[in-house]
Amino acid sequence: LAGLAAGHAASGDTAAPSATTLTLNVLVGTQTGNSEEYAEDLAAAARAQGLAAAVTSLDGVTADTLATLENILVVTSTYGEGEMPDNAELFWESFHAEGAPRLESARFSVLALGDSSYDGYCQAGKLIDTRFEQLGASRIVPRVDVDVDGDDDAAAWIGDVVEAFAALQPASAAAAPVPADAAPTRTRSPWSKKTPYPSRLVANRVLSGPGSAKEIRHYEFDLGDSGIEYHAGDALNVVPSNDPALVDLLLDQLDASGDEEHAGTSLREQLGTALEISAPSKDLIQAIVEADPDSELGRVVRLGDKRDLESWLWGKDSLDLLRLSPSARFDPLEFAGLLRPLQPRAYSISSSPLHSPDRIHLTVASVRYGSADRRYGGVASTHMADRVGDSAIGIYLQPNAAFRVPEDDSAPVIMVGPGTGIAPFRAFLQERQGRGADGRNWLFFGDQHRANDYIYEDELDEFGRSGLLTRLDLAFSRDQAEKIYVQSRMREHGAELYAWLEEGGHFYVCGDASRMARDVDDALHEVIAEHSGLGADAAADYVAALKREKRYVRDVY
Ligand code: 2AM
Repeated sequence: LAGLAAGHAASGDTAAPSATTLTLNVLVGTQTGNSEEYAEDLAAAARAQGLAAAVTSLDGVTADTLATLENILVVTSTYGEGEMPDNAELFWESFHAEGAPRLESARFSVLALGDSSYDGYCQAGKLIDTRFEQLGASRIVPRVDVDVDGDDDAAAWIGDVVEAFAALQPASAAAAPVPADAAPTRTRSPWSKKTPYPSRLVANRVLSGPGSAKEIRHYEFDLGDSGIEYHAGDALNVVPSNDPALVDLLLDQLDASGDEEHAGTSLREQLGTALEISAPSKDLIQAIVEADPDSELGRVVRLGDKRDLESWLWGKDSLDLLRLSPSARFDPLEFAGLLRPLQPRAYSISSSPLHSPDRIHLTVASVRYGSADRRYGGVASTHMADRVGDSAIGIYLQPNAAFRVPEDDSAPVIMVGPGTGIAPFRAFLQERQGRGADGRNWLFFGDQHRANDYIYEDELDEFGRSGLLTRLDLAFSRDQAEKIYVQSRMREHGAELYAWLEEGGHFYVCGDASRMARDVDDALHEVIAEHSGLGADAAADYVAALKREKRYVRDVY
């Protein structure tokens, strides 16, 4: 357990603390790498105050290890609707089990990340927080729940935590403070949500065929003099703006000119670049229901349950809600006050820096739907597809240290990435080629129809010819009477799949979380149960071990 230290003493910590320097053990639960940034911020802020800090992932600890630590800070996101993120599952198993050791001598606090538009908001953090209390640990700073736009809340928690621990540390014991900008944390790009790098989009082409149900595009962002250094497996945040045509329609609906002053600029500017105008916010829904209880929306909220509301809202945006509730009249500025800040969108990078050091590639499905009278578009995907032109678009890196090719170049790699889920695996193949890795590579890819949806076919052919791609199994679901999915191919080739795992294989999944990744997980369990001959319980243990060894990692959304 490198990096973990009991309350004091931290040999090897770069801040060279004395024997009584307080060490903060920062434990990260993350699905996409978001929590890691806050954890690193906390570590840097702690070191700047002469504290020692070690950042580790939650699955690196068990309840028993925790019992040896004194100062524990958990930064965790929540996955799906209230579940533990992938790298916290194993920790949680032992932490909430009946025999978990008491933690009377530990101090702790939790930073819980979540998205308030989902059920189970910050649930993973809340559960961990409650469990610490049950086990007798003392909460040194109250838990803070951080919404998608909650950078300031996180910063406040970090400040409170550092202040509380600094106060506990005898002045003589403090390690020499490390200035925050020289703190030995991972090198961090200067670009962020607040100051994204204005990049030029130097490639934008459609990969899918004209008959496809989807429009999948290949993009290349120029990194110019940004200094951005990325890794295969990272994601890229894109800072989008809204469609000006939609802004105009909203202004019309609100009887506003757009020149009204709002938040220091014009209302038009705010609606265009700062506020989420497509997906209706909870506040907007509530305000409409209050102002017009007899509208369709008002009735669904009063008479239906959550599912009814979800299905009524499906495919509708804020403009639809205003139009469908004509007696709910809003002052334009009041309306703007009900919206949430426009958030950046993260996409898995589809290139490797070894292949493409100066450009980041993305592989993105454009979100477009609608009828004759209304066209709808995903904010960021249509911004990239239609609205960048010669202007710049804001980007910044979202590192994902958990999603990497194996350090061991000879380890076999199995990748399951249907549709745009192929993105990080194109990056992995480039990366392994660039490293001259001699380990075998196996890709499962699929989509609806081979004729339209076999994206990057030429590149995969070339990877096959060169011997880099050892196996490619394709699953086109609608090219025959019965559905064939990637997990069908996994089962067909189960014996070989199990053999690759036995030979030290790493298993990766990218793409749809709600159905595909769940079914692939089931198939993985079945394949192991059948071909090991040991049955379902042993297969569950086998999969848990794969996760613990970081040989089963997912980038799913
Ligand atoms: P279908 O729509 O023909 O059923 C990308 O959307 C691809 O994923 C499509 O081929 C789609 O098939 C397929 N797909 C749908 N549900 C899936 C699931 N549960 N597991 C794996 N693939 C699935």
